[in-house]
Amino acid sequence: MPRPLIAPSILAADFGRLREEVRAVAEAGADWIHLDVMDGHFVPNVSFGPAVIGALRAATDRVFDCHLMIEPVDPHLAAFAKAGADRITVHAEATRHLDRTLQAIGALGRKAGVALNPATPIDAVEHVLERVDLVLVMTVNPGFGGQSFIPAMLEKVRRLKARLAGSGVLIQVDGGINPDTAHAVVQAGADALVAGSAIFGAEDYAKAIRALRPGVVV
Ligand code: DX5
Ligand code: ZN
Repeated sequence: MPRPLIAPSILAADFGRLREEVRAVAEAGADWIHLDVMDGHFVPNVSFGPAVIGALRAATDRVFDCHLMIEPVDPHLAAFAKAGADRITVHAEATRHLDRTLQAIGALGRKAGVALNPATPIDAVEHVLERVDLVLVMTVNPGFGGQSFIPAMLEKVRRLKARLAGSGVLIQVDGGINPDTAHAVVQAGADALVAGSAIFGAEDYAKAIRALRPGVVV
């Protein structure tokens, strides 16, 4: 089975020690650092914005993978790029002109991703695939860490994998990923796994990251 990229979500980290937490997961084997930005409008929770991301940038040279759960999103893209985002993923549901938003991310020199809420069909991204290098399949309804994986998303990942075959576009999954669900999503076709509580809730981050890589004996 292919080795998935692991992107710990700092939403589940100790916010009083964020720099140390970012350094610790980077040293523990994280491929990307996943940054969940929430606005209390597109999603029912508020997290952090570009100032916090900018403050963390010096802590590691790992890829900063920004997941923007904000609406509107276009007015804020430049601020996230400037703060140090390497990848910017926006929700298909949060922008009226998705194609324009994805072009704007590319024009800022960042890698563009598009996220789909559980109820959004994969058809929503059919005509923008040339503009992205990642599709994020939400495996919970966005807004909170620690929720349960929605099993119906496995079929969505499978269908998307078939659609993306040979395109080079990555499939990322986010929400309820733990050692029990990781195997099934990777088998279905996920290339990158986001995990918050399964990593930051563990004593040993390196062991928790290894436990998400199917086939690896911890
Ligand atoms: C949910 C966020 C996720 C979340 C994952 O809106 O996008 O990244 O932090 O948390 P866990 O892994 O705890 O489900
Ligand atoms: Zn996320």
